[in-house]
Amino acid sequence: MRLDKFICKSTELTRTEAKKVLKSGEVRVNGDVAKNAAMQVHENNTITIDGQQLSARGSRYYILHKVVDSICSNVDEGYPSVLNFIEVDKAFDLHIAGRLDADTTGLVLLTDDGRWSHNVISPKKQCQKTYRVWLRNGIDDDKLAVLVTKFAQGLQLQGEDSLTRPAILTRVAAEDLLDEQCYKSEVLLTITEGKYHQVKRMFAAVGNRVVRLHREQIGAIVLGDLAPGEWRALSPDEIALFS
Ligand code: URA
Repeated sequence: MRLDKFICKSTELTRTEAKKVLKSGEVRVNGDVAKNAAMQVHENNTITIDGQQLSARGSRYYILHKVVDSICSNVDEGYPSVLNFIEVDKAFDLHIAGRLDADTTGLVLLTDDGRWSHNVISPKKQCQKTYRVWLRNGIDDDKLAVLVTKFAQGLQLQGEDSLTRPAILTRVAAEDLLDEQCYKSEVLLTITEGKYHQVKRMFAAVGNRVVRLHREQIGAIVLGDLAPGEWRALSPDEIALFS
């Protein structure tokens, strides 16, 4: 990793402050003064600032229950970024592994480990994401059977050059409905990619409309009973799923 990045990861310093400290000559790598921010360093190098040894802080991994009218972006733009909810140092250094629309709720993963988030979002990795979907038009059993086949075969969405990957559509069992009134219009959809507005476009392509959307699961990581707006660090087992 670059020396300035290592300093940021293991201290409270911003990238600009790290560069200033480097210029000042206070940083040593294995005993030698180091001023080059781009110098490549490893965890087994001894890196000191003003004689104090830095120890590499590991990467960070969190799960958040996103609320409506927040955005999956590293800047506040119209709505607040979901990063405002994560009450840790330098939360805005994290990035979002799989964005949701402003009006979508549910499971969001955040990390500063680029390789890990790649494993979550790359279509090549085929990680399953499960959404609870509320539809404008209820689906009876015959229609559901037709849609299950269509979604499994893949849909041609406008502007895309390939079909959607096989997706799994299921009805929610009556006892698991979040809205008891919605037996015919509350369904679960599992997809393994993340095209722009994919779930909304898939239902639009079959003449329906998503009125509410909520992500419940990514791979084996489930939102569970995390309350809206709440977050927690992922467990080592959860982190290992995409490491
Ligand atoms: N698909 C959508 O249409 N929106 C989301 O937020 C996520 C998946």
